[in-house]
Amino acid sequence: MRRPFVAGNWKMHGSRADNAQLIEALLLGLPNQPVAEIVVCPPFVYLWELSRLLKSSSIALGAQSVCAESLGAFTGEVCASMLKDVGCHYLIVGHSERRAIYKEDDSLVARKFFIGQSHGLIPILCVGETLDEREKDQTNAVVARQLNAVLDLAGIAALSNAIIAYEPVWAIGTGKNASPAQAQDVHAHIRSVVAARDAKIAAAVRIVYGGSVKAANAREIFSMPDVDGGLIGGASLKADEFLKICAAAQSH
Ligand code: PGA
Repeated sequence: MRRPFVAGNWKMHGSRADNAQLIEALLLGLPNQPVAEIVVCPPFVYLWELSRLLKSSSIALGAQSVCAESLGAFTGEVCASMLKDVGCHYLIVGHSERRAIYKEDDSLVARKFFIGQSHGLIPILCVGETLDEREKDQTNAVVARQLNAVLDLAGIAALSNAIIAYEPVWAIGTGKNASPAQAQDVHAHIRSVVAARDAKIAAAVRIVYGGSVKAANAREIFSMPDVDGGLIGGASLKADEFLKICAAAQSH
């Protein structure tokens, strides 16, 4: 039985006050010991303050990205040991916005995954195809390539302590979610790619769906056998929506 997992990716949103308010509303609304594992990923500059608000709560903190290098002369970057130091437990790598806007390729994503995990962070590895790739029937090949780049560097055992997020690029922030059946198909494929290396790890690894998840569609998507929760963007910025999504994951 895989424990459901729900993470909120706040992206570059909110002020210091907005984000603290959002956390307070989530803390009030969540049960003390939620069935699902709940994570929020605020912007870097708010991590420390929010980690203090989240202390001894059931919500864990994650970062949205990391530098692929350790400490040193990398102006503007934030490294894994710093994220750990301010209370992060999770780390998103390979988000499609990082891949598309900041030109992060598979090998850089793999290095970020590896360095984050070697500093004790649990990576949430995002994979997903563009609309063009889906229309050309390349979805399975694209997600396998993105995943294998990480597994070739980090090794299959790395997935015993990581989350995979399937996020079709065409569904992110568009209001157009993958249908539960489309999500299930790709999740099952991802699990089979992992199983080709290790069946036990494949059965245990959590694969979450992201892309226009909201309270209204979460239950249906999460009810698919290979969908273990969600990575939520826009809807994670509204406490009541996010709480409903968390509740949908718990009842799954
Ligand atoms: P969305 O974003 O829920 O706003 O579509 C998901 C994500 O980017 O992780």
